[in-house]
Amino acid sequence: MLHDRENNMRELSPLQIERLKYQPKLPKALMRGIKNLILIKGHETEAIRDKEQIKELFKNTYGSPLVTFEGTNEENDSSVKNVGVILSGGQAPGGHNVIAGLYDALKQANYQNKLYGFLGGPAGIIDGKYIEFSDEFIDKYRNTGGFDIIGSGRTKLETQEQFEKSLEVCKRLNISAVVIIGGDDSNTNAALLAEWFVQNDCGIQVIGCPKTIDGDLKNEQIEISFGFDTATKTYGELIGNIQRDANSAKKYWHFIKIMGRSASHVALEAALQTQPNITLISEEVEEKQMSLNEIINNMAEIIAKRAANGKNFGIAVIPEGLIEFIPEMKSMIANLNDIMGELEQDFNYNNATSTHERFEIVENRLQENNSKVFHSLPALIKAQLLMDRDPHGNVQVSRIETEKLLIEMIKTKLEEMKSQGQYVGKFSEQAHFFGYEGRCAFPSNFDADYCYSLGFNAFALVNFGLTGYLSSIKNLTESADNWIAGGVPLTVMMNIEKRHGEFKPVIQKALVKLDGPVFKMLEKNRENWAYNDKYIFPGAIQYFGPSSVCDLTTITLQLEKQKTFV
Ligand code: FBP
Repeated sequence: MLHDRENNMRELSPLQIERLKYQPKLPKALMRGIKNLILIKGHETEAIRDKEQIKELFKNTYGSPLVTFEGTNEENDSSVKNVGVILSGGQAPGGHNVIAGLYDALKQANYQNKLYGFLGGPAGIIDGKYIEFSDEFIDKYRNTGGFDIIGSGRTKLETQEQFEKSLEVCKRLNISAVVIIGGDDSNTNAALLAEWFVQNDCGIQVIGCPKTIDGDLKNEQIEISFGFDTATKTYGELIGNIQRDANSAKKYWHFIKIMGRSASHVALEAALQTQPNITLISEEVEEKQMSLNEIINNMAEIIAKRAANGKNFGIAVIPEGLIEFIPEMKSMIANLNDIMGELEQDFNYNNATSTHERFEIVENRLQENNSKVFHSLPALIKAQLLMDRDPHGNVQVSRIETEKLLIEMIKTKLEEMKSQGQYVGKFSEQAHFFGYEGRCAFPSNFDADYCYSLGFNAFALVNFGLTGYLSSIKNLTESADNWIAGGVPLTVMMNIEKRHGEFKPVIQKALVKLDGPVFKMLEKNRENWAYNDKYIFPGAIQYFGPSSVCDLTTITLQLEKQKTFV
């Protein structure tokens, strides 16, 4: 018996076993089967901004129509097709199901079709590193979290040389379509690759799928990126658990930084699910031009008022990207990003014997106002600001412990207030960062269904010969059979933005709208939540049970679609 248990323990968890059996739901049209679809073309499209420039840059793929699929009784035959798939950027729950949906549709269309997975992100297609998927292999990954099926990476697929190498690899494998599963940057590159393939008459289509837990790849056509649902539910569970702990022991202030890069969608959604005492929203900080000191003063005021009521505990939720939205920090970080290249070549900087010496070199290089800001920061934060940049040249916000910066500054502020008789209380803190905990969770039923549908639908777009499209599944607050499957030309979402000194076509990142219903919900309630503990405890994601609990979408999506929620 013990022996059996030991063996089982080395294999799969009970939940893994059950999740492998889950059959994801599809929109009604796709349920008819890949051979029984018709393509309905909508109106022609335009870019959201900078139309003429985008049109000029995407001469071949610009202006294509929006498309949707409907079921038909007639069966379409399709020729044999090989497809390649890439997972790009940060992990998001459901990526494996996108691949499973794509594979199932491809095999349903013609069992001779082959699906290749490029290994380690976009680098895989450039370097020709790949695997061919089989039934047996795919079956091990159905409804599981993570991107480990083929791995992911952050290589940017954007240069002529990379495109040429990709073409060579595709030709070798007889691939006629590439599906890129990624966020705004990866899909911008998907659009460039699609255009380049048409321009060079390569006969290779490119289809994107909207991925990112950050929830910032959304617009009129894309209701939400996949992974946001599961990640926010995971963070909601964790925050709820901490709230219970805080409410039981009543002795700690918990400062919880939540992943999500620049936009605060993840922190906002997690806050609406749990109703903590303080929630910072980066977009509001920027809009109101709040300085770091103002943020500290506001937070200290809440802490002091709660202490006056005998509550020396509480929960503060902080979005990951906050630091880049505080005006004086934004200016300092931009200046720092510019001089990072120079610093890498600087003999004294590279050979400095202490971090203190490095800080001095940096301070001497920064503009005066930025230098003062840098100087005022704790050593820990200074060191984190000097860490390697990401492939886009940006500070890696996930590595900056903003929660600790706030704690240190609040401590100083509270001491000052105490000395002036404005604070009587005890401030004991705990710092947390929730990010990686949520990116590879078992996808919720919503994400499992949504992702499978996105992948299945991506093959439908391929099968109808489309290129430069993003797989789109809409009407997501309805039950899955009422979802609408189709495609959106990638150029629709583009505009021209300055990136590292150059004007480039990019998919616009969606930030939290301060006049939108989601932020308004927080704004309306935050005073109440600050002082009257209105904590909500969402608990763990439910995979089995009543659909009213298991299939619930995020509050963000429901508010944006003006649905009521519990
Ligand atoms: P994507 O934009 O690629 O989806 O990445 C999301 C994210 O999880 C961000 O929220 C976070 O800032 C970043 O990735 C962390 O990156 P890394 O995995 O390289 O540490």
